[in-house]
Order: sequence, then C-alpha cells, then structure tokens
Amino acid sequence: MAAMELLRNGGSALDAVELACRITEDDPEDHSVGYSGLPNLLGQVELDASIMDGRTLRTGAVASIHNYGNPITIARRVMEELPHVLLVGAGAERFAAEIGQQPADQRTAEALAKWRERFAESGLDPNALGDNLRAVAHVVTRPVNLKDKPVIEPPLHGKPETLGTVNFLAIDQRGDIASGVSTSGIAWKYPGRVGDSPIVGAGNYSDNRYGAAACTGMGELAIRVSTARSLVLYMKMGMSLHEAGMEALRDLSVLEMVEGRYMNIVALTPDGQHQGFTTVAGRKYLHMHAAMREPELLDRTCLEE
Ligand code: GLY
Repeated sequence: MAAMELLRNGGSALDAVELACRITEDDPEDHSVGYSGLPNLLGQVELDASIMDGRTLRTGAVASIHNYGNPITIARRVMEELPHVLLVGAGAERFAAEIGQQPADQRTAEALAKWRERFAESGLDPNALGDNLRAVAHVVTRPVNLKDKPVIEPPLHGKPETLGTVNFLAIDQRGDIASGVSTSGIAWKYPGRVGDSPIVGAGNYSDNRYGAAACTGMGELAIRVSTARSLVLYMKMGMSLHEAGMEALRDLSVLEMVEGRYMNIVALTPDGQHQGFTTVAGRKYLHMHAAMREPELLDRTCLEE
C-alpha cells in the first residue's frame, strides 16, 4: 500500500519496488524473506535480492549476505554505485558496511526454533552434522525419486512453505517498469546456495519495451531455463503475455518436478496487462493499480488450463 501511494504521488517504479521489498524484508512474520528468514543447514540466515530498471536495463543484486538487513537496498546501491551487477558473501557485506548499513542479526528465535524442529523431526542433531552436510543438502536440493538414493532419508525435503520469495513488478506514471525480488532462499539450504532471486534473467527481468517477469519457488528450476528473461524475450518475439507465460511454463515442464518443487511467475506488459503463471494448480498472486483501494488476489494460470 505504501508503495502504491508512492506511485500515486508520482514516485518511480524503482523506488516503489524497493520500498515494497523493504517492508516485506522487515516483517518478522515472513519467514521466507529478509529478517526472520528460515536459516541454512548451519542455522545462518543468508539473504539474496535483485532489482532491475526496465528503462536502462541496469540491475544490481546481492547473494548469500549474512548479518545485514534489506538486501534489496544493498542490491540497488550495487546497481547505482558499482561497475558490477552482483556481489556475494563477504564482498556484499563489506559493501553494505561501506554504504552505511549497520550489521544486524537477521535470525529470530522463531525461525531458529523452526530450524531446530526440522532437525528434531529428522532425527539429526544440527550441532553435530560434521562432514555429513552435503548428504543432508543432497536430500534437500535433489529430487528424491532419482536412482541415486540420498544417504539420509528425506526428513528435510522442500515443503512449499520453505520456498518463499517476494516479487514486485511496477509501472510508474512515466511508463517506466521496475522489478524487485528478495528472499532468504530455500530453507535449510547448503551454506552458500544461491537461487534464482539474485540471478537476473532467471528470477527477475524488466525491459520497458517488452515487459517484466519475476519468479518464486524452487530457484534451481528458473536458473536452469532462464525463466524471467525467457518470458520477456517471448513477448519481444511477438507472443502475447499469455502465450509467453505458457511458453515459459513449457520450458519448465521438461524439468523433473517432484512434490514440493514448483515455480511461479508473475509478468507485466508495458501497457499494464498482468498475469500469474504456475507449475502447480491453486496458486494466486496480488495485483493493484492506482484506482484500487486494496489489492486483488488473482488465480495464476497453470499449463494444463
Ligand atoms: N526462489 C527463491 C529461491 O529459490 O531461492
């Protein structure tokens, strides 16, 4: 709502998506984005974010950042102040400090309790994983129906609620488009794992001329078929929004999709058409334009529809 107010007052799409992401990142009730995100296997919160300016095709991203909040703002400053597009880990943290952000523990008691609960369910001691970490990660990040059976049975495999991300796509009064994506990544991930959210082209893409797209879900899937950029490219090649989204879903459909693995896409055209797409039925997305008092919850389109 605050981001919409900003747009109503003539603010930029870039400012709007940054603000909307920041509000979600600061929400302690949201365990998939920013502060209070679900931790990695070691109990550390690692945040990823990206922002893209559809007018200039400039973009900035950070990945695997610890101990600093609001990764979307750090991503934006990367875009605006460095000759680079993506900073990771210690370099991203150094840059955050340099631009004046204060370090702040992103873990909350609730998120850590969920982490401990998940290990308790699995019969594993999170403080005594030793060299077994990759076996646990194997269970988390690879489909369990493959021949090479995981060493540990899948106590931690990706439940839907462990895959959250936030996407915001906006058009401002000048017709400029921007997109912002922020996440704490898949819960219980191997340390250093990066999903699609900070990978421009996979989880985020904006181009004023053709439109924008962004993803939530199992980031590995969007990385493998470059989902966000593909959808925008399909529109550039002449497909309608609907056709482009369906083609992006067809790209994803060749990947193995076991339970708990899914991909959602939201997309926008320069004239304000919007649509959500998903590989699993029943998913929704939120839409709002300046004349609306409240956002509306809309169905996403699934491939078989
Ligand atoms: N879509 C967020 C992630 O996979 O990290």
